[in-house]
Amino acid sequence: MSLTNDYLERGKRRIPGLTQLLSKRPDQFAPGLWPTYFSKARGTEVWDLDGRRYIDMSISGIGANILGYCDPEVDAAVMQCVQSGNSSSLNAPEDVELAELLCELHPWAEKVRFTRTGGEALTVAVRVVRAATGRDRIAFCGYHGWHDWYLAANLTGDESLTEHLLPGLSPLGVPKGLHGTALPFRYNKLEELRAIFDRYPGEIAAVVMEPLRNEMPEPGFLKQVKALAKAAGAVLVFDEVSAGFRLNTGGSHKLLGVEPDVAVFAKAMSNGYPMAAIIGLAGVMDAVERTFISSTYWTDRIGPVAALATIRKHQRDNVSAHLGQIGKAVQTVWADAAASTGLDIHVYGIHPMSHFGFDGPDAQAMMTFYVQEMLKHGFLASNRFYANFAQQQEHVDQFGQATRAVFEKLATLSRQGPLGPHLTGGVSRPGFHRLN
Ligand SMILES: Cc1ncc(COP(=O)(O)O)c(C=O)c1O
Repeated sequence: MSLTNDYLERGKRRIPGLTQLLSKRPDQFAPGLWPTYFSKARGTEVWDLDGRRYIDMSISGIGANILGYCDPEVDAAVMQCVQSGNSSSLNAPEDVELAELLCELHPWAEKVRFTRTGGEALTVAVRVVRAATGRDRIAFCGYHGWHDWYLAANLTGDESLTEHLLPGLSPLGVPKGLHGTALPFRYNKLEELRAIFDRYPGEIAAVVMEPLRNEMPEPGFLKQVKALAKAAGAVLVFDEVSAGFRLNTGGSHKLLGVEPDVAVFAKAMSNGYPMAAIIGLAGVMDAVERTFISSTYWTDRIGPVAALATIRKHQRDNVSAHLGQIGKAVQTVWADAAASTGLDIHVYGIHPMSHFGFDGPDAQAMMTFYVQEMLKHGFLASNRFYANFAQQQEHVDQFGQATRAVFEKLATLSRQGPLGPHLTGGVSRPGFHRLN
């Protein structure tokens, strides 16, 4: 048995759900074939447990490794931190430096707190806005993690919520008392948010949303959201966990011309080392001192050290421009390969976080086949592409050749009938479906 399969079997026995993150489960890609575990990663290359090397043109650590794997500058800063002590009974001065840097990048923000993951940072933000306003209800749009405040939206048992959240999320284990505290609206649907404010006058603590995800806001949408929140005395929270550091250094809201009251960062801000930040107006953030928010490992030093090194390099090397170029080139690869082989696909998303899908009833099997065959060409590839700074045009060129070859095969086979019989390990399961 290969080492990969050995670990898979052992992992399935001991770890419910196999992985700690839905988006890294092999059934999201190509069951039975996706390598699942890595032994080594560098730049945009990844080695599996059996020594096979892949060029990663997939999710770049689901958007965390924005500079690529083992970035030399970030890793050197982290190594130095390890050598001089990552943790002690005192605090890391880098917390202060990072708080200052984030406020420099976002001059509207006055105060900063830190956690280590996106979901927990959102949960801190929600606690803070509830503490600051004395209100319980949150109007939200899009995905914000796994915590109770958010999954409470599914306590209604209303199937229509599937459109707002990941499909199939069960709120089992979330206290029923939270029913009605998380109220969804869809991106670019101002009337849905207005209806929430009309239904609960004086009761909404905050509007929590991504400023952008796969589509740009309609003209005036974010400004109107802000005006509605302000008029109702609610806090506006922008979740920049995925959007941040893709189009610019810092929050995407800087490009969109709307400043929130609170913004949340994680993922790309520290290139794969756990770090997250909540930044905001003093009037809101100071509520932290009237409630209790505290955790031992939120004081480790690697997180802020990695974030400082990542953000400084991001700014100095204009990393977002590179991500845009590479993402655009990948979208062109998909579109050209489809046009030349006659396959129907749709390509969408901002360039640094690009997506495509096959059209038609056999779409999921076709995507699984694409993943399966790209592995044979030495690529980790899927329906999603998160660009990183280590990817170069030569990677895109090789990726383009492989994609064209696989699309040709796919076009021929799909003319003959369903793809199922050509899949070695069965059809993958659909991954995230987000609201915006
Ligand atoms: C917009 C957004 N918010 C929150 C999260 C949760 O972050 P984490 O997975 O670090 O808990 C994610 C993760 O994909 C996200 O995309």
